Amino acid sequence: MDYKRLLVTSALPYANGAIHFGHLAGAYLPADMYVRYQRLRGTDVIYICGSDEHGVSILISSQKEGVAPQEIIDRYHGQNKRAFDRVGISFDNYSRTSLPVHHETAREWFEDFKNKGILTQSTEKQLFDPEAGMFLPDRFVIGTCPHCGYDRAYGDQCENCSKYYDQTELLNPKSLLSEAKPVVKDAQHWHFPLGEFQKKLEEYVESHAGDWKDNVLQQVRSWLKTGLTDRPISRDLNWGVKVPGEEDLGKVLYVWFEAVLGYISSTKEWAAEKGEPELWKDYWCGEDTRYLAFIGKDNIVFHCLMFPAMLMGKGGYVLPDNVPANEFLNLEGKKFSKSQGWSIELDEFLDSYPADPLRYTLAMNMPETRDSDFYWKDFQARNNNELADILGNFVNRAAHFLEKHFDGIVPEPGELSDDDRAFLNGFNTTAAEVADFYERFRFRDAVVATMNLARAANKYFNDREPWKTVKADPQVCASTLFCSIQAIYALSIFIEPVLPFTADKLRKQLNLGNEHPLTWDAPAVHRIPAGHKLGEKALLFEKIEDKIIEAEMAKLQQPEESSTAEASYPPLKDEITIDDVMKLDLRIGTVIEAENVPKSKKLIKLIVDIGSETRQIVAGIASAYEAADLVGKQIAIVANLKAAKLFGIESQGMLLAASNEEEGPMIMIPQGAISNGAIVK
Ligand code: MF3
Ligand code: ZN
Repeated sequence: MDYKRLLVTSALPYANGAIHFGHLAGAYLPADMYVRYQRLRGTDVIYICGSDEHGVSILISSQKEGVAPQEIIDRYHGQNKRAFDRVGISFDNYSRTSLPVHHETAREWFEDFKNKGILTQSTEKQLFDPEAGMFLPDRFVIGTCPHCGYDRAYGDQCENCSKYYDQTELLNPKSLLSEAKPVVKDAQHWHFPLGEFQKKLEEYVESHAGDWKDNVLQQVRSWLKTGLTDRPISRDLNWGVKVPGEEDLGKVLYVWFEAVLGYISSTKEWAAEKGEPELWKDYWCGEDTRYLAFIGKDNIVFHCLMFPAMLMGKGGYVLPDNVPANEFLNLEGKKFSKSQGWSIELDEFLDSYPADPLRYTLAMNMPETRDSDFYWKDFQARNNNELADILGNFVNRAAHFLEKHFDGIVPEPGELSDDDRAFLNGFNTTAAEVADFYERFRFRDAVVATMNLARAANKYFNDREPWKTVKADPQVCASTLFCSIQAIYALSIFIEPVLPFTADKLRKQLNLGNEHPLTWDAPAVHRIPAGHKLGEKALLFEKIEDKIIEAEMAKLQQPEESSTAEASYPPLKDEITIDDVMKLDLRIGTVIEAENVPKSKKLIKLIVDIGSETRQIVAGIASAYEAADLVGKQIAIVANLKAAKLFGIESQGMLLAASNEEEGPMIMIPQGAISNGAIVK
């Protein structure tokens, strides 16, 4: 796509908790790397974000802690903004949805939709707390589950049987605000007719079939296939953006309706602070703007369907050209969970470690196509064996040698050999290769290709043996050092998107001025001339000792259930032979469609491509998975199992999953991509 300016946003994090590694790897680091790369290219780009400060989740935190919501958002907004800054996320603006500019923007959009007759209004029965004097959001009421009888079920879903229902169906409901028994009252709500945008959204999504990530496309297509329905966009709450015209009725706009508009209000704030209050329009309404929305996978529907529909309804706005959503990052094989102590807070981490090794580790494990993990040991290995031993080592050796034998001054090279020239030309190849990966949102590959230049530089330095030529052939030695310093320059540019703090140190160490601009193409055009004196050597990476990592791992709360869970497993079955095993035909397949089996709370029907054919498989995994999230996943199945009917639906095979009474089911997923039909043995 040809474009004149680039608008990049990352999902606005809720200001009710601290940012952790999972958030960072999902929506912030990739966007930051992309934006930094584009800035080096000279692209006109702005990177916009801010805190999402409304919604029930903030009210719940405020209730749990017994403090006002304002106090919660002030605390976490400040904390998160600072953490982003410390880890080098280079927003052009980090706003807050509690600001007047946001409230005005959201209200204006609502009124515009209302005036155009886009919105509909309807009345529903809802629980009202007579003591607190307000309608109750689903999470503020508990009662007995109408399906299984569980007596601490929330207003929307039962945590025991996972069934969804309407809050008015709860038996013996109780308000969590006042403990009072709520009464059923009519509540009027505004609806956004998402269903009416179905066709236009289908066209929009399909027009990106060639460039959106598979995980995104598949999830969106599955929503479209189910059919879009109207969405209520108002709530009865005392926290949020007040619904225009209903200020005194305790009604606010649904948080998702207004939060996405936070991107726009944040851009308005940015423009105003620049002293060009109209400038935001260029980015949001200019036809030659390219808009990219970086998010985690749980935000796909809102960014690929709801927000685009709103932008269409408003008219004159750009739609996201791409929504490069990432999957989730886990911690040492388990979901991040702050309440269980299974988490690492960014701010705390940065008190002990520099940001760049973390950025590097997260980029190398970025959950681009599947969930991935942060492991402390991996962090240590990446820092010690890659950053310190490869990148740091090369820079130190070359700089040290230059200092010792050339007084830190870049020497006049002798005639360059073929090797020298090939090495220098390699920078251009790296520049092109890395750029191509960034353009395609392949962050891990971009970083691998970047590090390969550091690897090549180490090899070059070794092969040229300057410690020998310094006596035997000083001209050759001078050429080697000349080329090595150019490599440090090239590295200082190419690593910048992922290692911005190190890039900065390298630039200082190289003692570069304006004649060596910080641009992607500079290493190809500008050489550091002979006679240039380098600055002071910097310490780039410090190795991390085993005992430090062991202490960190011990700090993570150990799961308590392990011993009891083990004890409850049945004894091992009787021994079998390899022939018995070989009777099983286990195959890898990709889920191409998934939907919940109507009326069943456990079953999901899958269509699985196993290479030679597709299979319909019914699996009891609905308690742990959303059907839409399964599409695109590779799974293992028993392919030669006689077909059977479950809930009246034929199941042609069996999916492999692990589970016990408390955990799972957990689908077995291959560790890397492998073609469908591959045999599991
Ligand atoms: N606050 C939401 C979350 O953390 C994301 C909001 S993204 C926005 O999941 F676009 F709505 F702002
Ligand atoms: Zn239940």
